[in-house]
Amino acid sequence: MKEFKIQLTCSFGLEAVVKREAEKLGFESLSVSDGYVEFTGDLKDMAKANIGLRAADKVLLVIGRFQAVTFEQLFDQTYELPWTDIIPKDANFIITGKSFKSTLSSVPACQSIVEKAVIKKLQTKYAISRFPKTGTEYTIQAALLKNTVTITLNTSGHSLHKRGYRHGQVIAPLKETMAAALIELSYWRKDRIFLDPCCGSGTIPIEAAMIGRNIAPGIMRKFAAEGWEFVPSDIWKEARKEAYAAIDYDTPLRIYSSDINRHAIEISKVNAENAGVDDCIEFECVPFNKLKLKGDYGVCIANPPYAERMGDLADVERLYRDMGNLFRQNDTWSAYFITSHEGFEKLYGRRADKKRKLFNGNVKTDYYQYFGKRPPKNS
Ligand SMILES: C[S@@+](CC[C@H](N)C(=O)[O-])C[C@H]1O[C@@H](n2cnc3c(N)ncnc32)[C@H](O)[C@@H]1O
Repeated sequence: MKEFKIQLTCSFGLEAVVKREAEKLGFESLSVSDGYVEFTGDLKDMAKANIGLRAADKVLLVIGRFQAVTFEQLFDQTYELPWTDIIPKDANFIITGKSFKSTLSSVPACQSIVEKAVIKKLQTKYAISRFPKTGTEYTIQAALLKNTVTITLNTSGHSLHKRGYRHGQVIAPLKETMAAALIELSYWRKDRIFLDPCCGSGTIPIEAAMIGRNIAPGIMRKFAAEGWEFVPSDIWKEARKEAYAAIDYDTPLRIYSSDINRHAIEISKVNAENAGVDDCIEFECVPFNKLKLKGDYGVCIANPPYAERMGDLADVERLYRDMGNLFRQNDTWSAYFITSHEGFEKLYGRRADKKRKLFNGNVKTDYYQYFGKRPPKNS
């Protein structure tokens, strides 16, 4: 099967997480750049990456990469790419673009040149002047970075955070990809208790349950490349079959999910049902200061309100103090919090053991990590 360069895009700060996930899926020789990870693989790998990656945003096929500082260079080198093997006559091809620190800085102008080059090349095969664009969508992206142009095809379609289970949501939900990354950055393993005491629509505990059960995040959604002529349909069937066979229904999970808001708990329950993990999460409507921890050596991961996005500042700050108090008294627990509130550590009453800058959408946040005592071996 023909090989491509496959690009896995992600939020800034999550490249190492995506690389680790890709290695676990068996992909090799991965290179890491700001906002993406790349490797060489075939279309089966592309399908496997779409279905199996938890923290990546999109899986792109790199169709070409070249230098261009003039529109002529952009046109000629785009024209040379194998569009006639990829794009059928009725395809609804859409050109997107971005440009950073490049001589060709006008994104609309670059998009228009790329589209002209693609059309001119397709006309060598189809001999029509106007393409109907009534068929399947093919999104071509021209990304310019320091005069290097990377032309890709978006095989995922909608971003991979759209797993398909979240129908209801609260204000300021976390993207599913970010929730999975927070868990993968923690010391949680499926034999330890998991808690999200500010669960909102349940994204973090649902992602934990899917990780615990080894349910591939993309198992129930569709991808843009599923409708493409040059991608054999059996690769998707095969990748899904493998993903279903890998599900672990046997290991018991102890995942607790609570929130002060009853409506949030109702939404979480429905979302967990949609994801097929409602049987391994216990939901409770309880304010944090009334919460009882259910055992030792647990891991708490929370996305509490930041006040900037929701919640009254005084309440939010009281909540952070309560969090510090509870986990100081329960030192076998590890606790992780994502927030943009710069006074978090002061309110919590302890400097984090580790801190990591992450972007939650456009909001600059820190991921504060407090490590509890290690669980005894064989516990
Ligand atoms: C940023 S949202 C969490 C979003 C969630 N991660 C998601 O993806 O939907 C913060 C949540 O904290 C809850 N919350 C606020 N104060 C709380 C408190 N004192 N105790 C428990 N939950 C609280 C809110 O009801 C809200 O659902």
